[in-house]
Amino acid sequence: MQKFSNLKIIEHPLISHRLTIIRDKNTNSELFRINLKKICEILVTEATKNLPLIETEIETPISKTKSKILKNDIEIIAVFILRAGLIFSSIFEENIPNVKIQHLGMGRDEITKKPVWYYNKIPEKFDLSKEHYIYICDPMLATGGSAIDAIKVYVNDKKIPQKNIVFINLVCSIEGLERVFSLFPDIHIISAALDEKLNDDKFIVPGLGDAGDRIFNSFY
Ligand code: PRP
Repeated sequence: MQKFSNLKIIEHPLISHRLTIIRDKNTNSELFRINLKKICEILVTEATKNLPLIETEIETPISKTKSKILKNDIEIIAVFILRAGLIFSSIFEENIPNVKIQHLGMGRDEITKKPVWYYNKIPEKFDLSKEHYIYICDPMLATGGSAIDAIKVYVNDKKIPQKNIVFINLVCSIEGLERVFSLFPDIHIISAALDEKLNDDKFIVPGLGDAGDRIFNSFY
């Protein structure tokens, strides 16, 4: 299924196994969190394959050698859409050197299904002389409304090139992907599953329910 050239669905036996666990409504929050986070680790590893390297010379205890390190004059920014996107937080903190972390708060209105902002505070100035690598994280991409609002902040307001933005999610819908790519054809989306459809309440089917509620064991 390659209708979307900038979409990458990561296939891996461990992702399939853990997805089955988190889709199951009988899985408790503790197991949900553990398995969700393990999938996110794989997705983050895939998503950050675009980071640029440079060659440097070092001396091992045995000899001089040339080796590669991350280019140092770049900005790496991880963006978590609250609440559910917070599951990615420790993964970036622990694995990505010099990562900058930013939060965007929005929740879907139950009636309109559109995102309602409650927190949007990111640094005013972005040094565009440096290359930016932006990873926007949210486990679910349903109608695409939340993803679009988040991407707009970086593309429209901060003038980051679309090609430098990766949206990382676990489960997405065709409807959401079509909306996002129609506005931002050059961004990249990495996901663990493309599900069948959205239901009348705009929940992903079969999906995994409300990721935020299940991660935090707080059901609204
Ligand atoms: C869920 C999910 C996404 C959004 C996806 O968040 O985590 O942010 O809905 O839907 P969309 O693609 O139709 O915009 P929710 O509003 O439930 O907030 P939460 O993370 O605080 O639970």
